[in-house]
Amino acid sequence: MNNFDRHRRLRTTATMRDLMRETVVTKNDLIAPVFVEEGLNGSTPISSMPGVSHFGLDSILNEVQEIVDAGIKSIILFGLPKDENKDDIGTGAWSDDGIVQQATRKIKNKFPNLIIIADCCMCEYTSTGHCGIVKEGYVDNDESLKYIARTAVSQAKAGADIIAPSNAMDGYVTAIRFALDQANLVNIPIMSYAVKYASSFYGPFREAANSAPKFGDRKSYQMDPANRLESIREAVSDQKEGADFVMVKPSMAFLDVMREIKDQVNLPMVAYNVSGEYAMIKAAAANGWIDEQSVVYETLTGMKRAGADLIITYFAKDYAKYLDQQGE
Ligand code: PBG
Repeated sequence: MNNFDRHRRLRTTATMRDLMRETVVTKNDLIAPVFVEEGLNGSTPISSMPGVSHFGLDSILNEVQEIVDAGIKSIILFGLPKDENKDDIGTGAWSDDGIVQQATRKIKNKFPNLIIIADCCMCEYTSTGHCGIVKEGYVDNDESLKYIARTAVSQAKAGADIIAPSNAMDGYVTAIRFALDQANLVNIPIMSYAVKYASSFYGPFREAANSAPKFGDRKSYQMDPANRLESIREAVSDQKEGADFVMVKPSMAFLDVMREIKDQVNLPMVAYNVSGEYAMIKAAAANGWIDEQSVVYETLTGMKRAGADLIITYFAKDYAKYLDQQGE
């Protein structure tokens, strides 16, 4: 009867299980998304993302204060311009008094040690709802690069610590790195949304950011969820172009891709736990079908186990509070 392994020996007590735990998610690993809306007074809850709201410039500091008090050290900022300020060339994305630039200055002034990551995209700012400049019904890659680079520089000048380009154009890391260096912003890292799938899990975000494309879809610039090898090509290109971090997005259905990227590309890797993933967990928990806290624990731990060094998640604040309750 000795020809089998007793794995259970190492799981006998809670203390033994603590000793054996391979993966732990800490507050340092979490990045909290924050939505700032131009012209809004106070805040408006996002119906498909319970617990997440849009904030006006007048109330944004309260939200950031809560995040900082919870012990989270970085935020990623998304801007929502007024409808009347959207145009073909996404002026609101790169203008020095754009909503993200204003919010960044304000937040940096009050919280100089907080890391502010600027989501660098155009879909919230273009009248087409596309992530770049549309010419004859097609998002023009090289023309869009000029605008994404301009956006990055203006965000960094406003005080953003990290630029996170998400418009998925080829060559954006090269274009942004060149523009930042020219502007003497050599120490501003680029967190590239290198592996960004054309995913239905972004639904609640697009509703929240009012950024759904007005025609067509994003499938010519975001990736086919069926592809693994292509994800490696995307991440390797961004590494060669000078990215400082690579991101995989979404996360829950793409853990295999994360592991692959972590093994192939020696850069810090970021998982984006996106809006639809958040909404599903919240909805099931609200119905009493799952236990939210333990499901969130497994979800975030799974991403870290798959190789993520950092996780962008709408659960950041809640998770930091769970950690406090556990005294960790
Ligand atoms: C902008 C952008 C998107 C998300 C982050 N940046 C949406 C998209 O590509 O449509 C999605 C985030 C989420 O779903 O939480 N391009």
